[in-house]
Amino acid sequence: MSWWSEFASRIECDAPIGRQTWFRLGGRARFLFRPKNSEMLASLVRRAKQEDVPVKVLGSGANVLISDDGFDGVVVRLDSDAFKAVKRRGESLHVGAGVDLMPLSRQCSEQGLSGLECTAGIPATIGGAVRMNAGGRFGDFGNVVRQVRVLQPDGEIETWSHDRIGFGYRRTDLGRGIVLSAMLELACDDPRRVKRTFDERFEYKRHSQPLADNSAGCIFKNPRGKSAGALIDKAGLKGAQYGRAEVSWRHANFIIARSGATASDVLHLIDMIRERVRRAFATELEIEVDIWRPEKAKGQGE
Ligand code: EPU
Repeated sequence: MSWWSEFASRIECDAPIGRQTWFRLGGRARFLFRPKNSEMLASLVRRAKQEDVPVKVLGSGANVLISDDGFDGVVVRLDSDAFKAVKRRGESLHVGAGVDLMPLSRQCSEQGLSGLECTAGIPATIGGAVRMNAGGRFGDFGNVVRQVRVLQPDGEIETWSHDRIGFGYRRTDLGRGIVLSAMLELACDDPRRVKRTFDERFEYKRHSQPLADNSAGCIFKNPRGKSAGALIDKAGLKGAQYGRAEVSWRHANFIIARSGATASDVLHLIDMIRERVRRAFATELEIEVDIWRPEKAKGQGE
């Protein structure tokens, strides 16, 4: 019997996870696990720890680049009903980690529940949006998160307050914890006003970014006080290619994967951009996208 036999009915081996990301690139996972509920996930996490097998959660796959060699561990998808619940009490929402952020923020804006307009057009699950503190020029998701339930690598479930989560610029202190659900604090407002704000922000994003292409959103973080997109643009890199990966003409901080591209094409293009921006502006670009490589995977477990 293998260590994962008790979970076998919810495990797919050698699963093609690359094509489940927005890049539609990258290899396979040794295991793809779809737990029925938090308890089942907690037992797998405990067993995987004993076996020293890394575990990672794939949300909507909008901010992840999986290497062509795939991921040698367990990839978890929180897509069963237990992780998709949304409960409203007054101005608070209790939402499962597997809930899609985009339809949720649209629904909230239509109901005059304000607070999520800053996330208009951001593809993410609630778990991913918490972990990355998703956001942009209009604000960050973390501002409305009051607390989260987090599964620790030892299988314990804890409740973390806003302050403990440590929301920063596209980061948190959640480490290897897996977000199970979040409590959001929103505010009742005029539905027409909230909806208008939501629509304006969505339009801004739609016009300035190549949302229809295969990409992972912004590749680099904005360096302090500067825009990574503007720097890459000024370095003359719009349209630059490596293999079938291309710097977007619409927004230079996006890399588009054309048909036939590999993850390796994207990684080479990332190196090329960093090198050119370093030489032109003496600025080091930090990668925002989460890159899953087999050699980094072990022990990382996020
Ligand atoms: N710019 C250029 N050329 C470009 C792209 C941008 O000159 O090719 C200039 C723009 O004209 C603007 C400035 O750079 O003056 C900033 O551009 P933008 O308003 O598009 O915002 P950003 O800082 O590049 C951030 C987030 C986005 C988010 C937008 C809008 C980061 C790294 N990026 O982009 O988030 O959608 O604001 O809120 O923080 C993501 O995280 O994946 C992402 C796309």
